Amino acid sequence: MKGVILAGGLGTRLYPLTYVTNKHLLPVYDQPMIYYPIKTLVKAGITEILIVTSGPHVGHFLGVLKNGKEFGLRHLEYAYQEKPDGGIADALSLAESFADGESVAVILGDNTTDADIKEAVSDFKEGAMVFLKRVEDPKRFGIAVFDEEDKTKIIRIDEKPANPQSDMAVTGLYLYDASVFDCIKGINPSARGELEITDVNNKYIKNNSLRWAELDGFWSDAGTFESLYQAGKFWADKTKKDTK
Ligand code: TTP
Repeated sequence: MKGVILAGGLGTRLYPLTYVTNKHLLPVYDQPMIYYPIKTLVKAGITEILIVTSGPHVGHFLGVLKNGKEFGLRHLEYAYQEKPDGGIADALSLAESFADGESVAVILGDNTTDADIKEAVSDFKEGAMVFLKRVEDPKRFGIAVFDEEDKTKIIRIDEKPANPQSDMAVTGLYLYDASVFDCIKGINPSARGELEITDVNNKYIKNNSLRWAELDGFWSDAGTFESLYQAGKFWADKTKKDTK
């Protein structure tokens, strides 16, 4: 399986920090944010990665990541998303030729987790897989809606619902088979003008081919001042504990 990290977007919620660099290069404790998703993929056995990025500071990635050897990568490739806020599914569509018919493990560049997805990656065959995490503020996330009778079956994902049907959020880690690229071609921009990953996942649900697992461990995005601070605090505490 190949890995794709989506690091486009504008990072407007972190202005003024993102006036001068890309959000994913900001520090989370002692490392640039993008190191965390790279390490999650490498830990899962993935050594070929594409980073999709955009915006005015794209050149900075090369200076920080170079050819990826430091992380043990065999191959590191970059793609440029022309419309930085075209949406997560728009960013993923740029990975089609890189994937070249293989399945992909996709992580949002501002997501950090200490969960191990190695088993899910090696067991994955077809369809899609999402990783869920219980959250306290479900109105901020894509939320899984479960079947009334079969509580393990997701019937729909609601994007930032006003009345959340559960507190299980879809995190920014996904596994897709190569049919994801045709699936993206079949969706339309949402009211906010983005190609939504939730629409892609809902298509897999309709085809009865979306599975899910609960993410075991810490997980947070780092796209707001509060979550950037909390993620940094988690990694600072963990690093100190691990080096004791
Ligand atoms: P968001 O945090 O939803 O968007 P953003 O990064 O533009 O930030 P803001 O809302 O503060 O302006 O995106 C989550 C992740 O998805 C982000 O880390 C990068 C990725 N992404 C893309 O790669 N392309 C896109 O078009 C969008 C919207 C996001």
